[in-house]
Amino acid sequence: MSSKYHEIYAAWEKDPEAFWASAAQEIDWFKPAEKIFDPEAGSYGRWFAGATCNTCYNCVDRHVETGRAEQAAIIYDSPVTGSRKSISYRELLQETQALAAILKDKGVKRGDRVIIYMPMIPEAAVAMLACARIGAIHSVVFGGFAASELATRIDDATPNFIISASCGIEPSRIVAYKPLLDEAIDLASHKVTGTLVLQREQLACDLVEGRDHDFATLMAEAREAAEDVPCEPVAATDPLYVLYTSGTTGQPKGVVRDNGGHMVALKWSMKAIYDVNPGEVYWAASDVGWVVGHSYIVYGPLLHGCTTVLFEGKPVGTPDPGTFWRIISEHKVETLFTAPTAFRAIKGQDPDGEYVKKYDLSHFRHLFLAGERADPVTIHWAEDKLGVPVIDHWWQTETGWTIAGNPVGLGIMPVKYGSPTVPMPGYAMDILDDEGNPVARSELGNIVVRLPLPPGSFPTLWNAEERFRDAYLSEFPGYYKTADAGYMDEDGYLFIMARTDDIINVAGHRLSTGGMEEVLAEHRDVAECAVIGIADEMKGQVPCGFLVLNAGVNRNPDEICSEAVALVREKIGPVAAFKKALVVKRLPKTRSGKILRATMQKIADGQEWKMPATIDDPAILDEIDAALSGN
Ligand code: COA
Ligand code: AMP
Repeated sequence: MSSKYHEIYAAWEKDPEAFWASAAQEIDWFKPAEKIFDPEAGSYGRWFAGATCNTCYNCVDRHVETGRAEQAAIIYDSPVTGSRKSISYRELLQETQALAAILKDKGVKRGDRVIIYMPMIPEAAVAMLACARIGAIHSVVFGGFAASELATRIDDATPNFIISASCGIEPSRIVAYKPLLDEAIDLASHKVTGTLVLQREQLACDLVEGRDHDFATLMAEAREAAEDVPCEPVAATDPLYVLYTSGTTGQPKGVVRDNGGHMVALKWSMKAIYDVNPGEVYWAASDVGWVVGHSYIVYGPLLHGCTTVLFEGKPVGTPDPGTFWRIISEHKVETLFTAPTAFRAIKGQDPDGEYVKKYDLSHFRHLFLAGERADPVTIHWAEDKLGVPVIDHWWQTETGWTIAGNPVGLGIMPVKYGSPTVPMPGYAMDILDDEGNPVARSELGNIVVRLPLPPGSFPTLWNAEERFRDAYLSEFPGYYKTADAGYMDEDGYLFIMARTDDIINVAGHRLSTGGMEEVLAEHRDVAECAVIGIADEMKGQVPCGFLVLNAGVNRNPDEICSEAVALVREKIGPVAAFKKALVVKRLPKTRSGKILRATMQKIADGQEWKMPATIDDPAILDEIDAALSGN
């Protein structure tokens, strides 16, 4: 079938409000919107102003009421614990009500924040839905972050409650979460009233009397009581969650997601972009701590009445590179969404795709990739081995759903390798030079979105409206700055080439090199430092730190480098994958003192580079090159 994309995009362009009003009919509202879009509200306007709704109701209750009660809502597959479990929509409702009752009993009310610090277990999704049910705002923190990162989030979100578990399970080790939680609570200035901790059989933990509550005990009591906890009507514009993402400093940005626009956009995307139907099995192999996990492990598939797979494992090593194919085959997954790095990891261990041949993948229809640039080699490999279309799509924590993609449900567009295809309805894209002037087609520039952003995209940063405007809206007035650079070709296809800020992408995880520099600068022997992302075959990029030592320091540089590596792991967490630091005499700078990180990166990656005209001392670049080659 030929794609209806151009027709649908044109319809949106002609009348955005009519487009989203029509999409909104897929959602059950307690009270419909007074204005589909209110341009006067917020920094750039707000969607579905005046409406009231509840996200949990739309994800769970309405499916139970309309015949999906016995359908699996969540399939939990955990090769790291050797367990599998299917949870029906009816059971999900019971579990969510039980947890919602506990939260209410502990004094959590509409608008209060709850931090969820949990591994990939169904209780994490139940916790998110329970918060949504009572109108509390959840903030999920990824398990790979260190205690101080968790503490920063506690201080910013000021939650009154935290839901956690005793441990997470990595293939190489059991990660004790509770000591991290305790340390974070100690470090944070804001004090929570209580925690709810799920004891996992792999590692039990101590509970602090009067503060920590046992998840299983309270859930058993709540199930027994079977209290009916109705879905709290919230404003469509009320926050559903805050998700912290890396910014250009060590202070993460609290991306706010509202209830109404988020539901409308995600529901629309499930059919139009992913071509999934209610009742089908959808799997996003990510983590609930990332935006992909929020949108497409939990909310998108459940809004659409799908079965979602919640996977606790890795693409390789749990136990082998055939795990993805086993899950697709066993649970009859129609659509898989993951990061290219996962496929590079699989390809690295099974280059000929021998494991693929062991499984029946006949009902598997599409593979979607996002989180980092999908390199054509990986796409070709996946297409060849799996025999299904492989769809790259580009989005950000801030937007919550696809900015540019190939909307399979509208009819697949011709694929151009290296491009995530075309802007989705809702996104009017321009490519601007640094002065804000449009560049010619196929010329590289700043990728920006004309305001307003569509439903589902963030309206602001948590408690930081000014930072929101400064970081995203002020540089190019009238636009949202994506901080990605790239170009649009003659056919309107976008190509995303690089970040324009200090963000690097490590195994699909977004990290700030500025944040790592802040940590390294704390080392007593470090006078100055720079962190860059260097190319890595499997992870895409890995960080590398350059340290200039204080005058007079004559300790063994290797020792200092090991301490620097340990410091980043301790302060940011293992997820930073910071394993390489080098001591150098000086850092290359412009005459005005700016560190030439981009040139350093090109040298590290063995790419062609030009001597920057403004460089202070060209000899320093040779020193960097020598340090990288170990001389
Ligand atoms: N809790 C605690 N530690 C965690 C963690 C968690 N939830 N997740 C990762 N870590 C740790 C890892 O154990 C590792 O520690 P190590 O340095 O002791 O080995 C470190 O953080 C880095 O993890 P990761 O970047 O995931 O590397 P990896 O080598 O363990 O796995 C991949 C690499 C590619 C297999 C894995 O990153 C992956 O599956 N990524 C694709 C899917 C994805 O998550 N995408 C995100 C957005 S779509
Ligand atoms: P995150 O907020 O963690 O989802 O990371 C968003 C960033 O990841 C984007 O700004 C891009 O730099 C990068 N990214 C995500 N998806 C893609 C993609 N399909 N192609 C290129 N870059 C991507």
